Amino acid sequence: MFQDLHQSVLLEPAVNALDINPSGHYLDGTFGRGGHSRLLLEALGESGRLSVIDCDPEALAFAEALAQEDNRVTVLAGDFETVLADLKAQGQQFDGVLFDFGVSSPQIDDASRGFSFQKDGPLDMRMNNQAGDSAADWLNHADVDEMKRVFWRYGEEKNAGRIARAIVDRREESPLVNTADLVEVVKTVNKPHPKEKKHPATRVFQAVRIHVNNELGQIEAVLPSALEVLKPGGRMVVISFHSLEDRIVKRYMRDMSKAESVDRRMPVLPDRLRPALLKIISKPVKAQDVDDNVRARSAIMRVAEKL
Ligand SMILES: C[S@@+](CC[C@H](N)C(=O)[O-])C[C@H]1O[C@@H](n2cnc3c(N)ncnc32)[C@H](O)[C@@H]1O
Repeated sequence: MFQDLHQSVLLEPAVNALDINPSGHYLDGTFGRGGHSRLLLEALGESGRLSVIDCDPEALAFAEALAQEDNRVTVLAGDFETVLADLKAQGQQFDGVLFDFGVSSPQIDDASRGFSFQKDGPLDMRMNNQAGDSAADWLNHADVDEMKRVFWRYGEEKNAGRIARAIVDRREESPLVNTADLVEVVKTVNKPHPKEKKHPATRVFQAVRIHVNNELGQIEAVLPSALEVLKPGGRMVVISFHSLEDRIVKRYMRDMSKAESVDRRMPVLPDRLRPALLKIISKPVKAQDVDDNVRARSAIMRVAEKL
C-alpha cells in the first residue's frame, strides 16, 4: 500500500531537525502519505510513540494502515486546529511537533479532487472532501467583492476584479461545475501567452484552494496550540509550501523568541510580561537548495525549540 505516491519535501532535514529522543512522543500534524512519519518511526525506539493528524479521508486510510502495522502510531482524524485544541485541553505533551503545510501530490494528481487546473474534474478542492463548502459551492454564490479580495490576497492575481466579474457573468448562464469551467472563465481575462510559463489560472486556483480550506486561518490558530503541547526543549519543525504560509510562521517564531516588552504609553502596565518562549534554531532551509522535487521549489523549513 505504501508505494511512493507523495515525494516528501525536506524529508531528512525535517526529521533530523526534530532531534529525536528514541523514547519520546512526537506529533506529525500533516500525515499525507506518511513520508515524514515513517522516517520518524525509524528513529524512534520500541517505547517511542507517534501521533499523526490529517483531515483528508484518503490520507487517513494510509495512516490507519500504518497504525495497524505499527502499534506506536495513533491516528487523530480532523483538521489540525481542532485536534490540537483537543490535545491541549487533554494536557497532552509532545517531545516534538512537525507540520508540512499545503497539498500533497496525490491530492493534486487525482482529478476527482478538483485541485488541478491541468486535469478536468469536479470543482472541489477540499482537503476534507466530506465536510464544508466545495470550491464550486463558493464560486457559485460569492459576490464580486469577496472573490476579488480572495483572488488578490491569496493569489496576488492582478486581474482579480475582472476575473470575479467574469465568473458572475458566466454563472448567470450556468453554474461552474468542473475545474475546466473555472479555467475557461479565467482564460477569458488572463489570455494564454507563449512567453508566460505559468498557467493563466495558477493564481486563481491557489487562492480558491486557500480560501476553501481556510489554510491561513488554520495555521494562525495551530501554532500557539502547538507551542502549548510542546515540552520544554521540544522542537517545532514547520515546512511551508508558499510565502503566505511562511510569513505567518516566520512572524510567529520571531515574536515568541522575544520577551514581551512594555509599552510605557499604556495607562495600565501589565502585572507580568511573557518571557521568550521559543529559541530559533538555525537559518530557514529552502527546499530548492537541497531538493530536486520540482513541486517543492518554494518550500521552506523553519525550526524552533521551546524554552
Ligand atoms: C504536504 S502534505 C504532507 C505530506 C507528508 N509530510 C508526507 O511526507 O507524506 C499535507 C497534508 O496535510 C493535510 N492537511 C492540510 N491542511 C490540514 C488541516 N488544516 N488539518 C489537517 N490536515 C491538513 C493534507 O490533507 C495533506 O495530506
